[in-house]
Amino acid sequence: MRVEVIGAGFVGVVTAVTLARFGHRVTVLDVDDRKIGKLSGGTAPFYEPGLDSLLREALASGCLDFRLFPAGLAKEAQLAMLCVGTPNDARGRTDLAQVDSAVAGLLAHGLPETIVIKSTVPVGTGRRLAKQLNDARPACRLVVNPEFLREGSALHDALHPDRIIVGVAEPAQASCLLELYRELEAPVLVTGLEEAELIKYASNAFLATRVSFINVLSRLCDHWGLDVNVVARGMGMDHRIGGQFLQAGIGFGGSCLPKDLDGLISQAAACGENVNLLRAVRWVNETQPAWVMEKIERALGGLQGKRVAAWGLSFKAGTDDRRGSPALELLGRLLEAGASVIAYDPTATGGPELPPGLQMAGSLYEPLSQADLLLVLTEWQEFQEADWDRVKSLLKGNVVLDGRNCLDPDRLATAGLTYLGVGRGRPVELRKGCFVWPPAS
Ligand code: UGA
Repeated sequence: MRVEVIGAGFVGVVTAVTLARFGHRVTVLDVDDRKIGKLSGGTAPFYEPGLDSLLREALASGCLDFRLFPAGLAKEAQLAMLCVGTPNDARGRTDLAQVDSAVAGLLAHGLPETIVIKSTVPVGTGRRLAKQLNDARPACRLVVNPEFLREGSALHDALHPDRIIVGVAEPAQASCLLELYRELEAPVLVTGLEEAELIKYASNAFLATRVSFINVLSRLCDHWGLDVNVVARGMGMDHRIGGQFLQAGIGFGGSCLPKDLDGLISQAAACGENVNLLRAVRWVNETQPAWVMEKIERALGGLQGKRVAAWGLSFKAGTDDRRGSPALELLGRLLEAGASVIAYDPTATGGPELPPGLQMAGSLYEPLSQADLLLVLTEWQEFQEADWDRVKSLLKGNVVLDGRNCLDPDRLATAGLTYLGVGRGRPVELRKGCFVWPPAS
């Protein structure tokens, strides 16, 4: 199929590379000529494991190219896929300016038969756009096909999705997407346009709810001296609940979960429905960094003049993306309270969005010397496998606060360090009493 992907961001590039791998002829268009230049040279403008090599393969195969939007739109394209950003405005409402300008560009340069919306759009957007497109070309069909790509695992998610959601006005219109994704083995759910739009918001809001739920439990576990990781494990063994997205920590971040939660809240508010459940999810997340900060303050006996070493700045491991990062939120608060902070991150090395006063280190152990406490804020493998004897010898203080509950408390205790987690109050000796029978062979 001849496909145009509009928007050379994370979703657009990952989707385009995957479609090219399936043998479709794909052109990615963007208004940013620097991005187009970089991608044409085989380098993605963001970090995503494995992407650059697939990008180069696709370029070399002749199945993929990058062009300027809208001048590069081709008359022979059969399908255009909108992968542009849909940020929220200050009131949490979705800003559709990029979607509208992509549609305007297509209308001006000749519409393909099928327009696919991959961007996350509020309920009702697809129907509005379908009408606009049909006024110009009655045979044009619009499909809402939300993406479920996690940063850091996006290629895996694109090649092995759990499901494909195809939202259409008429069931017959789904056939073009079945053809587009014929290589994928995932089940396809064909829905109405609006259901497909809501499935995307609902999925992210539900994942956010799970994280806030376990973070509330982490606060209780701290009070009662229990280990929230053990509680999450026991809950997750019920297959109706499952174990994913029950990792307590400093809160969820990124450019999707917080944005889509806010987007759903504002859509609900616009139709007068009470969504206090979702507001509570947001409240827990907004207060989690401050709650963790209190633990740090207690451990250090105050923050003024204290030196804190921090590992991890991105919103989670496996990405260099720091948008909405709870790590930055927490470090900003520590700096405001008078602590000095020196941080290391394997991919996120600098940038204007860093809190003022934050110092950056170039290697893992560099921030430790003279630090009163080490904070682990993302769950990178490199942090989990650190040499804790070396950490102990370099740190001035003795405490490691594990903001992602990803470290082995026993290993740290053996090195002579004091381990603090998020809701892992149980002393190490008692925690050892938790085991699964029969043991895994
Ligand atoms: C999320 C969704 O998982 C994707 O399915 C979706 O396609 C994507 O948003 C999107 O809308 O484009 P992503 O933003 O990459 O993907 O990040 P997640 O893996 O969902 O993590 C979000 C945040 O929750 C991170 O800060 C992570 O550290 C945190 N989290 C996640 C926890 O604190 N605990 C957990 O158990 C899981």
